[in-house]
Amino acid sequence: MLGKAVEEAMNEQIKNELFSAYQYLSMAAYCESENFPGFAQWMRAQSQEETGHAMKFYDFILERNGRVVLQGIDAPVVEFGSPLEVFEQALEHEKKVTAMIHDLYGLAVRENDYASQTFLQWFVTEQVEEEKNAGDVVETLKMIGDKSEALFLLDRELGQRRTEEQQAG
Ligand code: FEO
Repeated sequence: MLGKAVEEAMNEQIKNELFSAYQYLSMAAYCESENFPGFAQWMRAQSQEETGHAMKFYDFILERNGRVVLQGIDAPVVEFGSPLEVFEQALEHEKKVTAMIHDLYGLAVRENDYASQTFLQWFVTEQVEEEKNAGDVVETLKMIGDKSEALFLLDRELGQRRTEEQQAG
């Protein structure tokens, strides 16, 4: 049985992961509107991953005989100045999520909840990857600056990222 404190914190994290999905979908929509279909595709796949993260928490709460209680999701940011700003904000967002996961892990330790610690280990590792992925694009976009041809090629490259549905199809 899941303790109340961890259950509440995990329900909060379902909301945070779904907000991430919403925020990345909003970034995808912005990139579409600016004619960067590749960046939009990357963000769309990222959004879907975040929904997957939310569902991992959802399923884990159920497995532990806890109660899933969904919460309201804030509106995402909709306007950005450039693709660089989009990915910089994505990186900042991932750093915040990393801190949330670490807080959650710390709580599971204080509560002597060993099963949750093991479950959260996956997220600790995943966050290293998440920050690296966004950070790598930020660095590349900074190098590219205003060279439109290189921007076009990067857009095309990032457009190779597939959502699970696209992989299945
Ligand atoms: Fe679910 Fe991007 O962290």
